[in-house]
Amino acid sequence: MRKKIVAGNWKMNTTLAEGVQLAEEVNAALENATPKCDVVICVPFTHLAPVAAKINQTKLGLGAENCADHKSGAYTGEVSAPMVASTGATYVILGHSERRQYYGETSETLREKVALALENGLTPIFCIGEVLAERENGTFNEVVARQVEEGLFNLSAEDFSKIILAYEPVWAIGTGKTATADQAEDMHAHIRAVIAGKYGQEVADNTSILYGGSCKPSNAAELFAKPDVDGGLIGGAALKCADFMGIVNAF
Ligand code: 13P
Repeated sequence: MRKKIVAGNWKMNTTLAEGVQLAEEVNAALENATPKCDVVICVPFTHLAPVAAKINQTKLGLGAENCADHKSGAYTGEVSAPMVASTGATYVILGHSERRQYYGETSETLREKVALALENGLTPIFCIGEVLAERENGTFNEVVARQVEEGLFNLSAEDFSKIILAYEPVWAIGTGKTATADQAEDMHAHIRAVIAGKYGQEVADNTSILYGGSCKPSNAAELFAKPDVDGGLIGGAALKCADFMGIVNAF
C-alpha cells in the first residue's frame, strides 16, 4: 500500500547555519518519535551535504528542491542529479510551480530531469497544480491531468512507481488560502484515476499523492483524513520545527 509522507520544502530560506540548526531540531524531534508517516526535508543545494552529515536518514529523509536537466558539462550555475545524489540526499522536488512560473520549466525539461533523477537513485517529488484563473474557469482537472501526462507518462510502469506526486494549487501556495479538504480529495481522486487509466489500478493505488498549499498544523488533520490525500508538501510551516512536527503528528 502507498506511503504516507510529510515533506518540507524550505524554498530559498535559511542561511547555512540556520538551516543546519533547523534540520538538527527536526532530527532531534523525530529521534524518539514514531510518526505514522515518512518525514522528509528538501533544502537548498548549499545545505545538502552539511545537513546529511547531521541527520539520521532512517528517520528523516533528505532532498533537493530541483536538479538540472543535463548530467554534466558547460551549464554554469546548474546542479546535476549525480551531484545531488553524491551529497547523500535521496529525494528531489521537480516541477514546482515556482520553477515552472519563474524559471520557465516545461514538461519537456521536466521529463529530462525526472529521467536523470531516477537514473541517479533519487525519488522525484513531482509537483502539479492549476493557477487561480484555471480554478475559476473550470479547466483545472484537464490542466492537472495534462501536467501528469506530459511530465510522466513517458515512463515505464516500473519507473512511474518510484514517483511521488504533489498536488499544489498555485492559488493556495503561500497565500494562506488552503484548498478545502473536499477540493483536495476531488483532485487527488481525479489524478489517481488518470494514473489508473495509463498504468492500471494497482500502480495508481500505490502512488502517494501529497497536498501542498498553506498546509499547517490547524488544517493538516482534516486534509490527511481524506482517503486520497497521502500527506503534504509543506512550505512556510516547514521553517519552524514545532509547526512542521505539528503537521507530521496530524497523522
Ligand atoms: P506554503 O505551505 O508556504 O503555502 O507552500 C507550499 C509549497 O509550495 C510547498 O512546495
